Amino acid sequence: MAAIGSAVGLGNIWRFPYVAYENGGGAFLIPYFVAMFTAGIPLMMLEYGLGIKMQRSAPASFAKVDKRFEWVGWWAVIVAFLLVAYYAVIMAWCWNYLFYSATLAWGSDTHGFFHHQVLQLNQPPGGLGGIPGYILLGLALTWVCVFFTISRGVRQMGRVAMWIVPLPFILLAVLAARGLTLPGAIEGISYYLEPNFSQLLSPQVWLAAYGQVFFSLSLATGVMITYASYLPHDSEVTNNAFITSFADTGISFFAGFTIFSILGYLAQATGVEVAEVATSGIGLAFVTIPAAISKLPLAAPLFGMLFFLTLLMLSFTSAFSLVESCVSSLVDKWQISRRKATLVVTSLAFLVGLVYSSRGGLYWLGIADHWVSNYGLVAVGLVEAVVLAYFFGASPFRTFLNSVSEIRVGGWWEIMVKFIAPSILGLSLGLSLYREFQQPYSEYPIWCLVVGGWLMVVGAIILAFIFQRVGGRE
Ligand code: PHE
Repeated sequence: MAAIGSAVGLGNIWRFPYVAYENGGGAFLIPYFVAMFTAGIPLMMLEYGLGIKMQRSAPASFAKVDKRFEWVGWWAVIVAFLLVAYYAVIMAWCWNYLFYSATLAWGSDTHGFFHHQVLQLNQPPGGLGGIPGYILLGLALTWVCVFFTISRGVRQMGRVAMWIVPLPFILLAVLAARGLTLPGAIEGISYYLEPNFSQLLSPQVWLAAYGQVFFSLSLATGVMITYASYLPHDSEVTNNAFITSFADTGISFFAGFTIFSILGYLAQATGVEVAEVATSGIGLAFVTIPAAISKLPLAAPLFGMLFFLTLLMLSFTSAFSLVESCVSSLVDKWQISRRKATLVVTSLAFLVGLVYSSRGGLYWLGIADHWVSNYGLVAVGLVEAVVLAYFFGASPFRTFLNSVSEIRVGGWWEIMVKFIAPSILGLSLGLSLYREFQQPYSEYPIWCLVVGGWLMVVGAIILAFIFQRVGGRE
C-alpha cells in the first residue's frame, strides 16, 4: 500500500502528460508501455525482492550482495535526494493553487497566470532573481510536514495512501467528463492517441519513456528496496509488482485523457495547433487543469480545491518515500538518530529547492528534472539490473522470487533482466548522451546545463563512492 502511495504522485498527473506532450504525444505511449514491460516491472521485482531478502535500506542491501557494490545503493539514494529537492517545489505550486481554487483566481489566461503571477518568471535561463513569497511559504510548509512525519516513522503512511489513491481517479473522471465535452477536445485526444511513428526513431524519446517509467514507479531511488525491507522476508513479490505497476499506469493514462482533451480545447480557443498550445511543457498541468476547473458548471471552486488537495496528498506519500529512502540509509550506516537524519535531509533539500523556487527557477527545475530522471534514474536502473543479474545471479534471484510469490515468473524474466533491459537501457542512454552534446537541451546557455544537470548527475556517483568509503557499521 505504501508502495502504491509512493508510485502514484505528481509523476502521474504533472509529469506524465508533459513528458508525453514533449515527446510526440501519442507516439510516446508505445515506448512507454515497452519500457514498462522490459524494464519497469522486472526492475520492480528486483527491488522488492532485494529489500525483502536483505531487510535493509538500499546501500546496505547492495553491500550484502557484495561489499564492493554499496555505492550503487548510495547512488540511488543521492538521486532520490536530488529528485525530492525539486519535487517539493512542485508541491509548493500545488499549495498555491489550492488557495487560488477558492476564488478561481487564475481567470481566463491560465498560462499567463501560472508564469507571471504564480512563478513570477522574469529571469532568463540561468538567472535567479529572488523568491516569490507564497512559493517560499509553500515550500517551507511542505518540508515542515515531511519533517514531522518522517522523524516519527513512516509506517502508517500505507493505510492513508490506500484511502487517497482512488480519489484522483474520481476527480480526474469529473474533469475528463468536462474536458471531453468541450469544443476541440477531440483534436486534443487524437493528438494524444495517434502514434507518430517517426518519433520512435529518436533515442531521446525512448530515454524519456524509460525515465518516466522509473520516475512514476518510484524505481532506482532506493525507495522500493527500503519499503520492501520492512516486510517479512517471505512476503509475496511478483503479484505486488504487477499491482503497483498497473495501478500507477492506469492513473497516468487516464490523466493523459483529461489533460489532452483540455489542450485541444485551449488550442481551439486560441486558434493554434494542439502541439503548440503551451510554451513550457513543465507547467502543463497547472495551465490545463485550472482551465477545465473554471469550465465546470457546478461548484467549480470546490472541485478545484478538492483536486489540488488530492494532488498534495498523493505527492506527500511520494515525497515521504523519497526522504525515507535517504533517512533509513543514513540511520543504517551511521546509526545516528532518525530525528537527526531527517533534519539533515529535509533542511538540505529545502536549501536546494530555493533555487527552483526563484524567479528563474522554472528553467532550473526543467534542467534538473531532465537530468535526474533521464540520466540519473535510468543509469542507476541499468547498474542495479547488471549488479543483481550478474553478481547476485538472475537465476538464484528468480528461484527466490518464485519461492515467495503467487505468480511465478518464467525464464523470460531472466532474459529480461540479464539481456534485454541492460541493452535497451544502455543503448538509449548512450545514444541520447551523444544527441545531448550535438543538440543541447532547450538551447539554454551551456553553463546552466553543466551546473544544473551534468554536475549533479556526475557528482552523485562520486559522492556515492565517498559514502561507501567512509566507515560505518559492519
Ligand atoms: N513515483 C512518484 C510520482 O510519480 C515520484 C517518485 C519517484 C517517488 C521516485 C519515489 C521515488 O510522483
